[in-house]
Amino acid sequence: MSLLSIEKLRITFAGAATPSVDDVSIQVEPGQRVGIIGESGSGKSITAMSVLRLNDERIMQYGEHSRVVFDGQDMLTADAGMLRRTRGAAISMIFQDPMSVLNPVFRVGRQVLDVLRTHSTFTAAQAREVVLRSFDEVGIRDAERVFDQYPHELSGGMRQRVMIAMAIAARPRLLIADEATSALDVTVQAAVLDTLDRLAEERGMAVLMITHDMGVVARFCDAVTVMYRGAVVEHGPTAQILTDPAHEYTRRLLSAVPRLHG
Ligand SMILES: Nc1ncnc2c1ncn2[C@@H]1O[C@H](COP(=O)(O)OP(=O)(O)O)[C@@H](O)[C@H]1O
Ligand SMILES: [Mg+2]
Repeated sequence: MSLLSIEKLRITFAGAATPSVDDVSIQVEPGQRVGIIGESGSGKSITAMSVLRLNDERIMQYGEHSRVVFDGQDMLTADAGMLRRTRGAAISMIFQDPMSVLNPVFRVGRQVLDVLRTHSTFTAAQAREVVLRSFDEVGIRDAERVFDQYPHELSGGMRQRVMIAMAIAARPRLLIADEATSALDVTVQAAVLDTLDRLAEERGMAVLMITHDMGVVARFCDAVTVMYRGAVVEHGPTAQILTDPAHEYTRRLLSAVPRLHG
């Protein structure tokens, strides 16, 4: 059984004549790294957000036959308690902007600690140890000092690492990364990808990596789903999609990345 199985996902916004995502199916196996690529507006983010039911359901609805099955449970019919237990624990998500996750008025260590404690029975002292270890695991040197700093005292790359530490502290089985490295300069991006690589490897953590960057896909993903205008145009092992794309759209996406052709 797949760890995650998105089946016939349809997302229709109120007032829209056509669905923004239609008939999208994506599977992620335990420990697998699956990429979703496609130009801006192709439906990558709203697909990813459906896994944790993060789309605003007052303005959109899921298709009648759509299912998003994680570990045997359809998230689209899960109750609030189930969603709360899953978010940040079995599944966590990282985004392009760490400040959408970090609260500017609290020290970062405490924020990671609070997230961890909502999902565990750790004592405060144990949780602090886990947070420091998570900082260490994401390549934050001097974890003790960073623990007591405020978000604005950290560089962008450092804040990104704190957000990743927050996402992995509870040892999720699935990490969803939505353009999480897109805003970083190439050196920091490479370091963050290395970190995710190592964590995925060490923990058998599956990753759903949303990006418009073919270089990230080539570097990180086992398999890739190509989306265009709310639909899947092709899916396959990364090597096959990159070297022998079946669709014109994928070929165009590839040709926009000169470094893969050098
Ligand atoms: N809040 C919203 N209200 C109305 N339509 C939306 C909203 N968010 C997304 N959409 C529609 O869904 C499409 C896909 O959005 P998104 O998943 O964010 O694209 P991507 O992440 O691939 O850039 C958009 O092009 C837009 O048509
Ligand atoms: Mg997006």
